[in-house]
Amino acid sequence: MDLKGKKALIFGVANQKSIAYSIAKKLKEHGVELGFTYAGEQLQRRVEPLSEELGGAFCVKCDVTDDADIEKTFKTVSEKFGHIDILVHAVAYAPADDLKGRFVDTSREGFKTAMEISVFSLVNLAKHAEPFMSEGSTIITMTYYGSEKVVKNYNVMGVAKAALESSVRYLANELGEKGIRVNAISAGPIKTLAASGISGFKTILACIEEKSPLRRNITGDDVANTSLYLCSELSSGVTGEVIYVDSGYNILGI
Ligand SMILES: NC(=O)c1ccc[n+]([C@@H]2O[C@H](COP(=O)([O-])OP(=O)(O)OC[C@H]3O[C@@H](n4cnc5c(N)ncnc54)[C@H](O)[C@@H]3O)[C@@H](O)[C@H]2O)c1
Repeated sequence: MDLKGKKALIFGVANQKSIAYSIAKKLKEHGVELGFTYAGEQLQRRVEPLSEELGGAFCVKCDVTDDADIEKTFKTVSEKFGHIDILVHAVAYAPADDLKGRFVDTSREGFKTAMEISVFSLVNLAKHAEPFMSEGSTIITMTYYGSEKVVKNYNVMGVAKAALESSVRYLANELGEKGIRVNAISAGPIKTLAASGISGFKTILACIEEKSPLRRNITGDDVANTSLYLCSELSSGVTGEVIYVDSGYNILGI
């Protein structure tokens, strides 16, 4: 697939295991020019080398809770890219204390933080990206099955992912007027930094290996392949969708 000349703005690379890294690598292999962001200074030394490896046009700090960072990021986009064809949103966070124990005990701060970083950021970044996007541009975000079914310890993040998926539909409807598509990938569990914050994650991985139709866990590359489809003309009529890349686990009943 030739996506030569397309420009992608990537949110969510923390290290080589990040889903955003797998997606960026795949897009690069198909000719896309990349611009990277990282959440905070402590990640700079990890993300900059990855940006260099993939020939990133820029690599800037963007904490999605910081309006000044967002302004600076889009100023860089304006200077270095001029337009955006693809926006990858692979960002989520909830305090560790709210990713274990009883959901009913979720803290007010934890709830607000999870919603701001994992959901509002998509809406806000879409708003900032819209002036740089035109017919055929796409936005993709990452969600998880815990949005629709109860997954032990996923707790407040499940509620945030439900709001994220709903946001995808509202954004898709509005931005669709301009021919901009917005979709989510519901990925099966992958051992990343974010996943390590969820108690009992190993048990989830073992369950997928044993029970999913494909009898294996998915990889970042599996997600990247579907991302490539969603970022290309092959999915030209697809928007507002949640597409599962989960070895088929979501189709199972008892
Ligand atoms: N790993 C899984 O099992 C899995 C499954 C389904 C969906 N997802 C989703 O995929 C996405 C990417 O997660 P991942 O698994 O690659 O883990 P990851 O830890 O590599 O990525 C999460 C990213 O969110 C960023 N982030 C957190 N707070 C931020 C902030 N304030 N500003 C900017 N960035 C911030 C982190 O820096 C990190 O780069 C998340 O939305 C996650 O919920 C992951």
